[in-house]
Amino acid sequence: MKNIAWGKLGFHYTEPDYIVRSACHEGVWEDPYATQDKFLHLHVQATCLQYGQEAFEGLKAFRGVDGKIRLFRWRENAKRMARSAEGLFMTPVPEAVFGKAIHLALEKNLDFVPPYGTGATLYFRPLLIGTTPRLGVGPGRDFEFIVIPSPIGPYYPGKFHCTSFIVNRYVDRAAPYGTGQFKVGGNYAASFRATEAAHNMGMDCLFLDAKYHKYIDECSAANFIGIMRKGDKIEYLTPRSSAILPSITNDSLMTLAKERGYKVTRRHIRLEELADMSEAAACGTACVISPIDRVIDPEKNVMYSFGAEPGEVLTGLYRALKDIQYGRAEDKHGWTEIFS
Ligand SMILES: Cc1ncc(COP(=O)(O)O)c(C=O)c1O
Repeated sequence: MKNIAWGKLGFHYTEPDYIVRSACHEGVWEDPYATQDKFLHLHVQATCLQYGQEAFEGLKAFRGVDGKIRLFRWRENAKRMARSAEGLFMTPVPEAVFGKAIHLALEKNLDFVPPYGTGATLYFRPLLIGTTPRLGVGPGRDFEFIVIPSPIGPYYPGKFHCTSFIVNRYVDRAAPYGTGQFKVGGNYAASFRATEAAHNMGMDCLFLDAKYHKYIDECSAANFIGIMRKGDKIEYLTPRSSAILPSITNDSLMTLAKERGYKVTRRHIRLEELADMSEAAACGTACVISPIDRVIDPEKNVMYSFGAEPGEVLTGLYRALKDIQYGRAEDKHGWTEIFS
């Protein structure tokens, strides 16, 4: 195992020994191979640079309580990357190539899988880029698929952490039926103006739908979850929108919520409905669940508060999913794959 201060790792890149690459020409993907070369020899007119033909993914391997390494739902990431590729007119990476690349990247970097109990994991960043040189606007025909592993610490170090959000109405990250439903770099570049302004105020950015600025879309680079309680009935609410990324974490949490007898609803959620929620959170691979303590709407001069401590419903779901990822609970859904 590498001599790394695992407990001190943040959500930052640590150079792995190997990355894995595969190129696609004329629709045919080459066998993924490991290399220590972290640089690309890319034509300056490549469609990824000129026209943003780029998609990426994010998934993790966990060292479990039993010392075994578990990959979490990588096939879902493969499917989502294929949808992103189709969304940007790229040749999708077949699941077999995606899977082989992830497994090879893990095998070649086993010393970078953090020990159990440190909160750190091995994160994989699959990247797909268009490499054809083109001057006329249009898609390329050649692609490169790269898997870059990096050990990372928890997104929010320390305890299960609450974050504050500020409502943004001046930057739209993605249009309805645009690229928001795909994991493509352009969405993130488009959001930087708003997210950096929020970070400078010590908060994260809550994006509303781009058409009406009325419904909740996403929490920075994560899906939104709200909890409503009526007596002993618990409802798990999450937005329905054509502009948000279908989160694999959210999908897993919805399954766990249903198992606990909660009503799970995916629908348009008006911003003002935050006032009726007992708990709210952002969810995604990086943090699993990041509870929200308050949402500030500066234009309307309103603040929605959810308490300084994470609520019991979301805490329960957070623990349940992490227990599966770390092998502390039975994986009834076959979400984890033990690497051997
Ligand atoms: C914009 C956006 N929404 C949601 C998510 C959460 O998705 P997942 O749970 O698959 O990580 C991510 C992270 O990948 C994201 O970048």
